Amino acid sequence: MDTILRVRDIKKSFDGTGVLSGVSLDIREGEVVVIIGPSGCGKSTLLRCINGLEQIDSGEIWLRDELISGRKKDMHLIRQRIGMVFQSYDLFPHMNVMDNLLLGPVKALKKPKEEVEAEAVAMLRRVGLEGRGQALPRTLSGGQKQRVALVRAMLMHPELLLLDEITAALDPEMVSEVLNVVIDLAGDGMTMAIVTHEMRFAEAVADRVLFLEQGSVVEQGTPEQFFHDPQTDRAKQFLQSFTYTSKRERS
Ligand SMILES: Nc1ncnc2c1ncn2[C@@H]1O[C@H](COP(=O)(O)OP(=O)(O)OP(=O)(O)O)[C@@H](O)[C@H]1O
Ligand SMILES: [Mg+2]
Repeated sequence: MDTILRVRDIKKSFDGTGVLSGVSLDIREGEVVVIIGPSGCGKSTLLRCINGLEQIDSGEIWLRDELISGRKKDMHLIRQRIGMVFQSYDLFPHMNVMDNLLLGPVKALKKPKEEVEAEAVAMLRRVGLEGRGQALPRTLSGGQKQRVALVRAMLMHPELLLLDEITAALDPEMVSEVLNVVIDLAGDGMTMAIVTHEMRFAEAVADRVLFLEQGSVVEQGTPEQFFHDPQTDRAKQFLQSFTYTSKRERS
């Protein structure tokens, strides 16, 4: 399998405070890497460095055989190849769903509108939003908006998709409808780096789990290893924080 992304010893500080202190990571074609770790450990910063929203201080980032870090120009061309979806669905509020979806592929990639439209219709159907193309974003639920955001990213046919806590702002009942779409994409072979606090989803979707703490990769492994036999005390503690002890058990 080809390696899609190579991250080599990247470092990043904000105002003299180290946030990423030498992170390395390879992602192969079709692989799903889930990045987890405590709040503030640098997960979002890592994703933002990968798609050039933040400049790294040192190290290298390669997309296939192209060095993409340290570039000043043409970063928009790289971003067309690396999709990203955030916690907040950044759909244009004054444009309906279909116009939001067509924008990137038609304006930026210059693809024929009819072709993209047909693909968008099929993808909306696939994520359970058949016939919602004319809807304005504000008439959709958070879960529906996030599914539109995923479709919009996929219509660009990215080589790599970065997802940063895409369900963090959603009501619990909408979380699974969005995460099932992601699992579906993974099944189709989409290469992804996913930051999530949803541990059961992480275990279901990951080929590999990366545990980040204070800007370093502390542990990585298969989901089976990581969730059921974590090696480091830090990972054990972190996973413990997702379990609850009942009043009865504690007394
Ligand atoms: N633009 C910025 N300017 C200054 N500091 C920043 C900036 N972006 C992030 N940081 C700091 O870098 C650290 C890592 O932030 P980051 O958002 O990457 O963490 P995270 O792991 O995604 O956390 P969370 O799980 O809460 O989303 C934090 O201490 C944060 O305050
Ligand atoms: Mg974050």
